[in-house]
Amino acid sequence: MNNPQLDKNGRLKHLLSIEGLPKDILTQILDTAESFAGVSEREVKKVPLLRGRTVCNLFFENSTRTRTTFEIAAKRLSADVVSLHIGTSSQSKGETMLDTVNNLVAMHADIFVVRHAQSGAAHFIARHVAPHVHVINAGDGRHSHPTQGLLDVFTIRRYKPDMHNLRVAIVGDILHSRVARSEIHALTTLGVPEVRVIAPKTLLPEYVERLGVHVYHDMRQGLKDVDVVMMLRLQNERMNGALLPSAQEYFKCYGLTPDKLALARPDAIVMHPGPMNRGIEIDSAVADGTQSVILPQVTYGIAVRMAVMSMLAGSGE
Ligand code: CP
Repeated sequence: MNNPQLDKNGRLKHLLSIEGLPKDILTQILDTAESFAGVSEREVKKVPLLRGRTVCNLFFENSTRTRTTFEIAAKRLSADVVSLHIGTSSQSKGETMLDTVNNLVAMHADIFVVRHAQSGAAHFIARHVAPHVHVINAGDGRHSHPTQGLLDVFTIRRYKPDMHNLRVAIVGDILHSRVARSEIHALTTLGVPEVRVIAPKTLLPEYVERLGVHVYHDMRQGLKDVDVVMMLRLQNERMNGALLPSAQEYFKCYGLTPDKLALARPDAIVMHPGPMNRGIEIDSAVADGTQSVILPQVTYGIAVRMAVMSMLAGSGE
């Protein structure tokens, strides 16, 4: 069966999810990002790879990190960048998402970066755009957030280069998290031998172990001897009804505090995709502590997004 994310020569054409991407493509993205990480440290932070191309940010859902780092990444590749403000666009007059996209293609947009509350929105656009147009999923519902998964594994690889000898714990609201799904697929595809998920039963998808993870409900047991602790926010906007007794109770059982972090390996790193809710899933002493790599994750997001866009622009139809 054709992989909609790859062109006929096996090169990346759209980035819609990590699931279904071969290990060599993931590794190519990470290796390409490594070279772009250096560009961000130069005085002139620009390369001409996307000169003459237009990147269009279509964010139907709020974002701070993803939208801004895509915009910076596209500018560093010398692309023209348009960020459509959906709230003030003609969507409010009844225009469909696809008509909006087709109008932007008529203006010669080459790459769409799409965030949407509906799972499958980016796939839908990718199925309908002209063959020369590329689509990147910047987060769709609870389904997938592939560039976040990639920047997370890039960060892990930077701090813990031996991926084949790692224990990674993902903690919190796995059920509603597109980030968790993307991370699990990226980590298992890249050969990380032990990925744990730690959450109450109400915040885990059914049959989650089929994704190749080890399930823990007790945070103290789950954190024992891990190399990486990845915290997740409670995604209240995607919850139907009360899944937890209270935020205070949740913090007591699943909040990352210095004493719980002490159960991980002494050199463990702490990650969070953001936005963080301090005092709910993470204590400020940990978020701002010496083991935290939460802000470097954001910085590496630029290099990873540069890598993805440069690879798309190099693919065929
Ligand atoms: N991690 C993440 O997707 O953050 P934003 O919602 O701010 O883009």
